[in-house]
Amino acid sequence: MRGLLDISELTIEEIDSMMNTAEDIIANPWKYAESCKGKKLATLFFEPSTRTRLSFEAAMHELGGSVIGFSDGDNSSAVKGESVADTARVVGCYADIIAMRHFIEGAPFVADRNCVVPVINAGDGGHNHPTQTLADLLTIRREKGTFSGLTVGFCGDLKYGRTVHSLCTALSRYKDVKFVFIAPKELKIPSYLIYEVIEKNNIEYVECESLEEAMPSLDILYMTRVQGERFEDKAEYERLKDSYILTADKLATAKEDMIILHPLPRVNEISVEVDYDSRACYFKQVLNGKYMRMALILKLLEGAKQGISADAVRPKPMVDDAEGKYKCENPKCITHTEQELQQAFRLVDKEQNILRCKYCEARVKNI
Ligand code: CP
Repeated sequence: MRGLLDISELTIEEIDSMMNTAEDIIANPWKYAESCKGKKLATLFFEPSTRTRLSFEAAMHELGGSVIGFSDGDNSSAVKGESVADTARVVGCYADIIAMRHFIEGAPFVADRNCVVPVINAGDGGHNHPTQTLADLLTIRREKGTFSGLTVGFCGDLKYGRTVHSLCTALSRYKDVKFVFIAPKELKIPSYLIYEVIEKNNIEYVECESLEEAMPSLDILYMTRVQGERFEDKAEYERLKDSYILTADKLATAKEDMIILHPLPRVNEISVEVDYDSRACYFKQVLNGKYMRMALILKLLEGAKQGISADAVRPKPMVDDAEGKYKCENPKCITHTEQELQQAFRLVDKEQNILRCKYCEARVKNI
């Protein structure tokens, strides 16, 4: 493994081992204070962030390394038209590891293909957010002691909520997990996750619209913000943004030991009064995120090559899986914006000839 683009690249055993490292960092921070001395992390954030960027930066500082980068793509040469591939190739000459957030789905995948240092997907559009999942998993393990046998309710914007996509992919590999997807019909979980991840793993699930109905069955309630920035139609966002508001009253029917998670930022979907409930764990998630990012940086740098040769910065030829015959259907995919990027896909259903884009997982169509 070079970087981390998708949570499914990590095995359950690797995640366990990283959680153990995170626990050791929590108990013995001094042991790790110089682990990354002389190493540089580049944070390339083309989309706003508070937690992910600052926790990556804090993580690298606490490991004794240093940080370069930008928090706004408008301060980079992307505004002059530089491609994601070129940006990654260039930054790979300066840094030992890159964390990239981008509003274009699949952008970190392109960075990874064009770069000699590990690239971490720090959130790509409405697609995936694997390092938030690492924070979520450590929080679940610390609070519940297990992943197996849990009923997990995901509530809110399950369509654009990239943290939901990554977390349900990760949890689908554990035994006897059940999912309750609570969303308005406009913001339902993407069908590729239902058919190709959840059903494929024989995970029991229900889809519903009522948080109140679901509440008594849940061991974990994972609230999410309606992602205004992803809507084409702002009127639709205004109509849906307050679909679910968790209040102290609504928790009356919840289990005593249910935990409430949220990747944050929150807007209205969790009332501030809920913060005083001992079941609220969303600020613990923030802290756990820093420790898991420390564990991830350690793991990836362990496997990374020392030094970069001029040869290594030469682009690797791309394989056009689609032979020019297919194009991704998702207009927010990197395949529509990056110059000279060839469509790559995987065949997920031979009988129904379902092909998915390797960058963003949307269907590809014949052209
Ligand atoms: N959870 C999360 O990704 O938060 P930021 O957008 O602030 O990084």
